[in-house]
This record gives sequence, structure tokens and C-alpha cells, in this order.
Amino acid sequence: MAAALQKNIRPVKFPVTFRALTKRSSPAPFRVRCAAASPGKKSYNITLLPGDGIGPEVVSIAKNVLHQAGSLEGVEFSFREMPVGGAALDLVGVPLPEETVSAAKESDAVLLGAIGGYKWDMNDKHMKPETGLLQLRAALKVFANLRPATVLPQLVDASTLKREVAEGVDLMVVRELTGGIYFGVPRGIKTNENGDEVGFNTEVYAAHEIDRIARVAFETARKRRGKLCSVDKANVLEASILWRRRVTALASEYPDVELSHMYVDNAAMQLVRDPKQFDTIVTNNIFGDILSDEASMITGSIGMLPSASLSDSGPGLFEPIHGSAPDIAGQDKANPLATILSAAMLLKYGLGEEKAAKRIEDAVLGALNKGFRTGDIYSAGTKLVGCKEMGEEVLKSVVDSHVHTSV
Ligand code: IPM
Ligand code: MG
Repeated sequence: MAAALQKNIRPVKFPVTFRALTKRSSPAPFRVRCAAASPGKKSYNITLLPGDGIGPEVVSIAKNVLHQAGSLEGVEFSFREMPVGGAALDLVGVPLPEETVSAAKESDAVLLGAIGGYKWDMNDKHMKPETGLLQLRAALKVFANLRPATVLPQLVDASTLKREVAEGVDLMVVRELTGGIYFGVPRGIKTNENGDEVGFNTEVYAAHEIDRIARVAFETARKRRGKLCSVDKANVLEASILWRRRVTALASEYPDVELSHMYVDNAAMQLVRDPKQFDTIVTNNIFGDILSDEASMITGSIGMLPSASLSDSGPGLFEPIHGSAPDIAGQDKANPLATILSAAMLLKYGLGEEKAAKRIEDAVLGALNKGFRTGDIYSAGTKLVGCKEMGEEVLKSVVDSHVHTSV
């Protein structure tokens, strides 16, 4: 299925303007994986994919934060910026140019802003910005998508749920990302024998796809509070019946993890009724898409939530879960914290640089503790700031951050 998608990544001739966009902050050729830059220093190549809408604003801030946190921990970065989504469509006529795929594959980690916008909404499917993102996930084989939803004490009143329901929520959605109905074939729109148009997709999971995401989820739960809830629709769908069977079979390898199962309709209801019952949730691609948006609202704003998409070996893809927000793009109103926290996940899950990651997480809390808020998380008595100022406050806090990690 991934191979089928790959075929859509057509070779294109790159105009001069494309070269201009593929910025490298260092002339050094890309090194694969981390290499020692100078004694005591580590160096990583990061591909930046700012994308569309608010993407460029939030990625440029997260890049500065990464640089700052890294330099305080003896870690250097070489950044290379590449086009994706609508930006790539405008530049070269495809949502995911081959050069972007190569750069991403050669790097140690990829940080993406957001893709999409009104301008491309009416495009054919293969020319939609979203198609570029799905092609990128397939090309990097990032099958495991970790989407944490944590209610920070500073933002509990920004939640639409009552304080007693939202307070203390700390859950992780482990979403399968490269299979299921998003990629399944057959798919299409055709006219049937009655002359009626029919749209169809296929929800399909092979046992090995279920096993590998389930293992990631069991491991994740093991490092958290040891509770895993597998969400499916096994009362109706065959793909879910197999999903439940495979997840159940693996449980004996993780006796320290308490496994439960829940139908997706019930899970959607339980998430707003009593979200604290959840620790780690594992689910398929489409249920994960929906439930992670729902979980994000418990935390107050989708503008706060980062994500990590991981493969078996190659570079991970790190992105905020919010979209491109074209209505506020270029107005300095976006909340950069989801992308900054995605940079922290990049350090932690992508590079194993836990100390630098902790610096960033602490710095975000520091800026919030000082009362700074973008519009989406503003409440009376706090200081309303724009995207840039929030970024500057986090940068200041990175420098001040007190590292208390045991790693
Ligand atoms: C997400 C988004 C994407 C998805 C879209 C933009 C293709 O909603 O990352 O959750 O459906 O996976
Ligand atoms: Mg989504």
C-alpha cells in the first residue's frame, strides 16, 4: 500500500525558486544519524517542513528553541528547510516533491508545521496538501503515532470540561498511522450498474501491522501507569475482530500491563465523561485521528498538543496535531507551544536527548507560569501575547530552565 502511494510522488524538474527554498544553515553534507561534531559535541541533521498557514511561523520559533536547548546540552543541529503540502504544490506542482522525501529520509529527524488551506481545498485528491502528508508518513514508514493529551495545572480552566473532570488528565493515544482505511485498497469513486455514483474505501489490517503497533503501545503503557485500553469496533468490523484478537494474544508478554478493550463509540463518550480512567489508548488510524482531536480539547486547546510518528528504524516525524489555521496565518496569533513541544518529543523519542527535551518542557511550563498566553488559551488575569512573544518567552525560560532529570 505504501508502494502504491509512492507512485504518486512523481519526479519533477525543480525550478531555481525551489533550490532557493531548500535552505541549509550549514554547508556540510548531510550525515546519516548522529556524528560527533567536535569533542564532547553531538550533531544532528534536522529536516524542517514548515508547510502552510501558521506552519512557517511556529516552525521558525521551534527551530530557535531546539537550537538553544541543544546548545546548552552540547548538541548541535544542522537544519534544512524543504517544501511540503500547498507550499510544494505552488512551487513545483506536487504536494510532496521527491527531494523533500530524500532530505527527510537522510536526516536524523523531521519537524513539520502544518499543511493545507482554502486555496487547495478544491484540488483533485492527488493534488491536495493532505495527500503530501500521507505520502510522507508512508515514505518514512512511521506507523506509530504518539499523541499525548495532558491537562497542565496552569490551563485547567481553559478546558471546556468541568475542572473536576479535566484536572489531572494525562493520557497517551497510540494511533496506527500507515494502514487501515487511510491506505486500504480497493478505494475510489465509480458509477455502479444502476448508474449511481459510489464512493468506497477499505478498512484492512494485517496481523503484523496490528502486532507492531500493539507492541509500541504495551511498551508505552509500561513506562507510564501500566494501563492500556485498546479501542476498536469489534462488534461490527472484521478488521477490528482481528485487531482485538492480536492485541489480546500479545498481553501475556506484558504481564505488568493491565489490558482492557473498548468500542470506539463508548470510548468517545468515556473521554468526555471520565477521561482520567485512561492512561494509554491504542487504536487504528481513523479512530485515532478522531479520538486524538477529542482528547486534545480536554486539555483546553488543540494548540498545545504535540505528536511523534515513529518507524522501526529511520527518522521520526514530529508535528503539532493542530492544522494550518489559515484564518489566523501570518497574523502573529498562533500558539507555538504544540510545535515547541513537538521539538521536545523530537529530542526525546527521535534522538534520545532527554535532557535537552526536559529543558524545553520545563521552559514551556515556565512561560505559562509567568502568565503568558496566546489567544486560544487566554483567560482573565493572564497576559495575552502573540506567537513571536510566546516564542521569546519560552526561549528565555530555556536558558533559565533548571534540569532535574535523572537521565
Ligand atoms: C492528523 C490530520 C491528518 C490525518 C490529515 C491532515 C490528513 O487530521 O494528523 O490528525 O487525518 O491524519
Ligand atoms: Mg486529525
